[in-house]
Amino acid sequence: MSPRAASPDHPEIAPANADAVIACEDVSHVYQAGTPLESVAVQGVSLRIGRGEFVGIVGPTGSGKSTLVQHFNGLLRPTSGRVIVAGESLDRRGADVRKVRRTVGLLFQYPEHQLFEETVARDVAFGPRNLGLDEEDVEERVTWALRLVGLDPERFGPRSPFSLSGGEMRRVAIAGVLAMKPAVLVLDEPTAGLDPVGRREILDRVQSLRAEQKITIVLVAHSMDDVARLCERIVVLHQGRVALDAPTRAAFSAADRLREIGLDVPRVSDLLWRLRAGGLPVRTDRLTVAEAVDEIARTMRAGASGGRRERGDA
Ligand SMILES: Nc1ncnc2c1ncn2[C@@H]1O[C@H](COP(=O)(O)OP(=O)(O)OP(=O)(O)O)[C@@H](O)[C@H]1O
Ligand SMILES: [Mg+2]
Repeated sequence: MSPRAASPDHPEIAPANADAVIACEDVSHVYQAGTPLESVAVQGVSLRIGRGEFVGIVGPTGSGKSTLVQHFNGLLRPTSGRVIVAGESLDRRGADVRKVRRTVGLLFQYPEHQLFEETVARDVAFGPRNLGLDEEDVEERVTWALRLVGLDPERFGPRSPFSLSGGEMRRVAIAGVLAMKPAVLVLDEPTAGLDPVGRREILDRVQSLRAEQKITIVLVAHSMDDVARLCERIVVLHQGRVALDAPTRAAFSAADRLREIGLDVPRVSDLLWRLRAGGLPVRTDRLTVAEAVDEIARTMRAGASGGRRERGDA
């Protein structure tokens, strides 16, 4: 089979992820097929996620994000098409689903609903214990994972998960996934429903995980600001299809396309577009506040020195 990465639909991603850890080939998923409640959640999605990539998946409510990412660890099987994870084709009977689950750790949307043990330490230990590790290794992993998410194991380990703040509970859930030492971490809206402090805690942790552990991360998010700040590539889903798959900077310079789909553009991009519409010829592919400040200053300096023909005020 010829590699999908060379597809003309995704020319820009071909070299970066030739070594795909997750590959979806023409994947569709239909819930309750053949009943009056039939719902086509994902349609004809082809995409490859390379080792070490940090990919953001965005799209309006109901666009199929959660459905798609649940295919990444074999929790859902495609109605048609193929999903290949770590070389295992999941549509094949006898596929090694355990290997896939060990490779890809998935944090569900609202994961705190799945915290159920009496203590934080026991909760984080649940996964590694199921892997059949001995108690010493399990304990080591619990300590390691709690530290990674910024929770002191001595202080938080013995506490009840239900005595924690929303952000802390979320971090315990992430530690539970990390304790399995997955090569790929899939986070389905990890900041949903958290206050700004909790959101910041989680995203800072994700960013440092990425820097320190070099794992592949797939982040499903609602906030364009978060994705713009963190991810290298974004995949936009719209009505179950891939509407855009591009490096982040390129994606946000397609602001009109994003607005058409009903998505916000990051506030920084929005500001630059407005300035441009108002006659200041700034570049619109800057993503952070610092980059935007530099760009505006540069453009104004160029304008003041008459260096910009577009302004027509020389
Ligand atoms: N278990 C299910 N049974 C039937 N239909 C479902 C089920 N789960 C999701 N759907 C439908 O599939 C579509 C995609 O849902 P999905 O949850 O994947 O979207 P999403 O992009 O994750 O949305 P959100 O941003 O709200 O989390 C929606 O129309 C939804 O109603
Ligand atoms: Mg969802």
